[in-house]
Amino acid sequence: MVVENTNITDGFVNSEIDKNIDIIAEINKLKKEKNAIILAHYYQTADVQDIADFVGDSLALSQKAAETDAKIILFAGVHFMAETAKILAPQSKVLIPDLNAGCSLANSCPPDEFEKFVNQHPDHLVISYVNTTAAIKTFTDICCTSTNALQIVDSLPKDQKIIFAPDRNLGNYINRVTGRDMIIWDGACHVHEEFSVEGILALKKQYPNAQVISHPECQKPVQLISDFIGSTAALLKFTQVDKGNEYIVATESGILHQMKKASPQKLFIVAPAKDSTCGCNDCNFMKLITIKKIYNTLKFEKPEVILDDETIRKAKKSIDKMLEISKKLKL
Ligand code: 13P
Ligand code: SF4
Repeated sequence: MVVENTNITDGFVNSEIDKNIDIIAEINKLKKEKNAIILAHYYQTADVQDIADFVGDSLALSQKAAETDAKIILFAGVHFMAETAKILAPQSKVLIPDLNAGCSLANSCPPDEFEKFVNQHPDHLVISYVNTTAAIKTFTDICCTSTNALQIVDSLPKDQKIIFAPDRNLGNYINRVTGRDMIIWDGACHVHEEFSVEGILALKKQYPNAQVISHPECQKPVQLISDFIGSTAALLKFTQVDKGNEYIVATESGILHQMKKASPQKLFIVAPAKDSTCGCNDCNFMKLITIKKIYNTLKFEKPEVILDDETIRKAKKSIDKMLEISKKLKL
């Protein structure tokens, strides 16, 4: 991947902002003037979610990017998500407020090692989670997100040999539920691996009516004590339709903003991490995006996500395949 961003030294535009301006009003003005939209992931802080034109999980954000005719897409999320937007909307300028907003899961799958691994299993279909770099997507047959991974795998013939990458917890979860024997890349997310079973069980004693809801990127012991397992969007939906009133939420804490907004009468408790001092239920990459950086990014139109045409062409095939299957399955 080539990123051409002159004058960017720290990964973002570090320009002084006049203290007297109304920054939210200015962002809205810049959006209109420049025909720009802001797409934000559920793991962003509440103020960033509230300034966005669209808030969603990685599947919904990809679908939104694929259909937009905006000149500029400002992606309030992590780098692989902004790359996916660029692949699906190459005609738009895609901006990310901080180039350091990476992903520990995407980093756990280096392209050169993954290419070797794929070549060692030539008869296997490669399914990769969207949480991968564009380079990994070029070696992938079908992309997936946590919302559609199970259904995509299930839509394939039972005897189809599959490599699943990069999340071992999501991959093992799909193997368990579908009875498949996919070969799984040994990657993980530093946020979802950190939830503590003991901490959750202690909370359950305090709130006996609370249901534990978790993301499939959590480790198996957390999944086994969960009342519901689902993607970020599925967890949100569950709390909206479920009759219960209390939830212990084992995923990144940003989603609680939408949960509380949709069900203000319910109680949402962030599941504790193994190390209570680490603040691990916050993704430190997601939280690099701030309102100030969004303002400077829109103003200076930097940093920009730039991918070469060949990477876009190859990576797009796997994302298109995912969107095609999702449409067919009405996901
Ligand atoms: P979603 O597919 O639920 O948006 O998950 C994205 C992610 O980064 C999970 O950690
Ligand atoms: Fe990546 Fe985990 Fe952050 Fe999601 S929560 S963006 S998988 S590091």
